[in-house]
Amino acid sequence: MAKFLVQKSAPLRGEVKISGSKNAVLPIMAAALLTEEKCVIKDVPALRDVDVMCRLLESLGASVDKELENNRVSIESSGEIVYEAPFDLVKMMRASILVLGALLIRTGRAIIHLPGGCAIGKRPVELHLKGLRALGVKIDEEQLNRGIVDATVDKLEGNTIYLDFPSVGATEVIIMAAALAEGTTVLENAAQEPEIVDLANFLNKMGARIKGAGTDTIKIEGVSKLKGVSHHVIPDRIEAGTFMVGAAMTGGNVLIKNILPNHLKAVIAKLRECGAYIEMTDEGMIVRGDMGPLKSTDIKTLPYPGFPTDMQSPFMALLTVANGPSVVIETVFENRFMHVGEFNRMGANIKTDGNCAIIPGGKPLTGAQVVATDLRAGAAVVLTGLVADGTTEVSQIYHVDRGYENFVDKLRALGANIMRVDE
Ligand code: EPZ
Repeated sequence: MAKFLVQKSAPLRGEVKISGSKNAVLPIMAAALLTEEKCVIKDVPALRDVDVMCRLLESLGASVDKELENNRVSIESSGEIVYEAPFDLVKMMRASILVLGALLIRTGRAIIHLPGGCAIGKRPVELHLKGLRALGVKIDEEQLNRGIVDATVDKLEGNTIYLDFPSVGATEVIIMAAALAEGTTVLENAAQEPEIVDLANFLNKMGARIKGAGTDTIKIEGVSKLKGVSHHVIPDRIEAGTFMVGAAMTGGNVLIKNILPNHLKAVIAKLRECGAYIEMTDEGMIVRGDMGPLKSTDIKTLPYPGFPTDMQSPFMALLTVANGPSVVIETVFENRFMHVGEFNRMGANIKTDGNCAIIPGGKPLTGAQVVATDLRAGAAVVLTGLVADGTTEVSQIYHVDRGYENFVDKLRALGANIMRVDE
């Protein structure tokens, strides 16, 4: 299995270009199934999850022209669409559920075997199904008890839907189904993440009539047909946040290009509270951690625009080296502290109680053999490896490959002492 070997490194210096957003491109690729015409998606990051989504779309009958060396994917599904998603692909990527709405639109049926829970939580889909039932979809309850979504619909009809939790995936699945339903759908307590806005922009270019994406109430007026379009994916705000934290916690000075600061207000605010210097220039965002020792701060993860749960573990890496104690509360996922044990192997001495973690900070960290417990946690332990004495060996790095394009090359270009070894 491949590993990262990370040595204590000099402060990160130089510039890095952020790739397209994984969590925007996955729903947009699924939405390409809503038309028989060709869609060309640009600024696509070359990631494992994108690869799996390409394979999933092909298995459903789409033709996919993958040019990830040019960060471009073309999708055309003018032929027969298969309504059953293969389990071997779905179990590799939970985001496979995002094809649910499109399959129902194209074939009137969808069968998706749900993978079990994952490292960060049980990841239910009852809100996705609540929305689809409201639009007239029938879900086989027997099959559902066996972890299989077996959905059928004659005609999708608009409705008003309230999401008990602003689930990103449920919002995306419902928007895609409602876009071609008869009549108007109003989605209340919708997720407000920038990736939802990018999906809505893509669908509106195709001819959909979606208003309010990015707010908690989204109105979708169903149309009869959507056309093929081309679209540039927004930059990945979590990759950007990860490099911002890396620059700050190593005492570095980094120019981050292809970044939308409006998508990172909470992360910018928290880094400034810790004493990092952040300035937006015409070329991009300058992040400096060389203005003095980092101070501690407290973090509580929330749905957007709150502090993003995906930035919880990378930011905790910074808090392990900040001066003084910090408190981190994780409110979005029920089990997203798997990385705490890995930080503690390096001497961080973090205590947790339920969804609350206390990071004492200021402890000298030493390199250790650690595991990437999810894709963000994998990036987080690499960051602590950059400041820990000695060598940190990170295994299960396939997680990192899911969400960070050319992670090692980008870090090495900033002076990081990291290498990938394939055993
Ligand atoms: C998306 O996952 C992202 N993935 C996740 O990023 C991200 O952490 C998450 O949103 C929250 O921002 C993609 O976009 C592909 P949710 P998703 O439905 O859609 C509960 C990464 O690192 N919930 O908003 O699965 C759920 O259990 C990944 O890139 C229900 O209870 O997230 C969780 O606790 C990790 N019932 C919370 O809501 C439901 O029906 C947030 O889940 C649906 C969700």
